[in-house]
Amino acid sequence: MSVGRSTCLLAIVLGGLLVGHAQTAPMSSFRTVRLVASPIRWELAPGRRVVAWAYNGQVPGPILRVRAGEGVRIVVENRLPEATAVHWHGVDVPFPMDGVPGVTQAAIAPGGRFVYAFPAHPAGTRWYHTHADEVGQLDRGLHGPFVVDPQGERSADREYVLVLGSWVTGQGRPVRPSLPDGMMQGMRERMGIAGPPYDTFTVNGKAFPATPPLRVRRGERVRLRILNASGHAHFTLRLDGHRMRVTHTDGNPLQEPVEVDVLPMAPAERYDVEVVADRPGTWALHDTTPEVAAAGLRVQVVYEGYERAPPSPDPRPESSLRRWTYRLGRGVNTIPRPTSGRVLRYDLVLGWGMMMAPDRWTINGRAYPDTAPLRVRFGDLVRLRISNMSPDSHPIHLHGHSFRVLSWNGTAFPAPLIKDTVDVPSMGEVELEFVARNPGRWLMHCHKVLHMHGGMATLVVYE
Ligand code: C2O
Ligand code: CU
Repeated sequence: MSVGRSTCLLAIVLGGLLVGHAQTAPMSSFRTVRLVASPIRWELAPGRRVVAWAYNGQVPGPILRVRAGEGVRIVVENRLPEATAVHWHGVDVPFPMDGVPGVTQAAIAPGGRFVYAFPAHPAGTRWYHTHADEVGQLDRGLHGPFVVDPQGERSADREYVLVLGSWVTGQGRPVRPSLPDGMMQGMRERMGIAGPPYDTFTVNGKAFPATPPLRVRRGERVRLRILNASGHAHFTLRLDGHRMRVTHTDGNPLQEPVEVDVLPMAPAERYDVEVVADRPGTWALHDTTPEVAAAGLRVQVVYEGYERAPPSPDPRPESSLRRWTYRLGRGVNTIPRPTSGRVLRYDLVLGWGMMMAPDRWTINGRAYPDTAPLRVRFGDLVRLRISNMSPDSHPIHLHGHSFRVLSWNGTAFPAPLIKDTVDVPSMGEVELEFVARNPGRWLMHCHKVLHMHGGMATLVVYE
């Protein structure tokens, strides 16, 4: 990319800054990072080696960490054998920086590069990932955390970022993580919609027992930023012997922490939780489905002085445990007010092609790119009612905006959670609203890569 082109991109970024976010710091100091995407040899666990596709030679990619409002410039070099692009999930970037081939940019050809430059906001646990050939690229390792620190937040004594991943290595028996809806996976298997035959699950790129332990000290408050980067799998986490206090949903703060024992996570969701380290020993943080934990989704929390202790069992039966649901949280409203005076309403029905076309996933009966775009104007309040008439759940993600979750399966929320990805359960319904304040053409889609590829996507278009 030439110097001239990147200067032009910078001008667009500054334009976005002045229009939408006048309170953000001036962009005098662009921090520059280089991300090189390339195939690497990667060992998921002893003896389980794969060729991963990685950023900067590691899975997940490096943690990119900046202050809210700080300008970042990310030079992405593509050394993969196919085209790629990088999306900044949950970051309200200006439209040309959004990383969607065919919508916001041309895909970066092998050997090519692209410079992404934008002010990082809002604060919170965000992430970045490939947005080209997601079916082939996302579960190969092309994802990483992007942490935006707020100005002046009380920090925890210790912090870990945990990126959950799923792999098809062909070196083990496929395992189907269960969904929160209780429908038998065998049923989905017969319908041909059970998802990729994952056989290995990872925490920060390693499968247990190769996952590096999380070391803590008695009395500490430990913050975990957890990201489900899987292209299809739901995970359900539990930390033996401890409760988790959920403090943020998709990076956005709750009014007060919610104590739970079990944390279900749909693809692309993030939760920040705080754990008070008050039970010295060695404990497992793991998926509640034993086969999933056995296939790698497990990491040990080890207190100082207990390095040699065997993991303690947690005798509490699962039925006695408190499980996170959207109903439990009260969000802090971080979304500015609409300015146009218009309220738009759209009804979206998520559908499936049935046994005749099990790979087809639709919105209002049509598959992307034939779906009808949602037309909005700057300043509008946009309400979506999303009904899921298909036999799988759909974590719906909107690019460029966070939204309020107004209701879930008929329960209205007095203090809506702020999220950018909401899991719409099979035969369920979710209402959400966002304020149109970031002009462009924004993708909205299911984050399960097979569903997205099968057509469950549309555009929000500013006119
Ligand atoms: Cu996380 Cu369209 O992506
Ligand atoms: Cu879906």
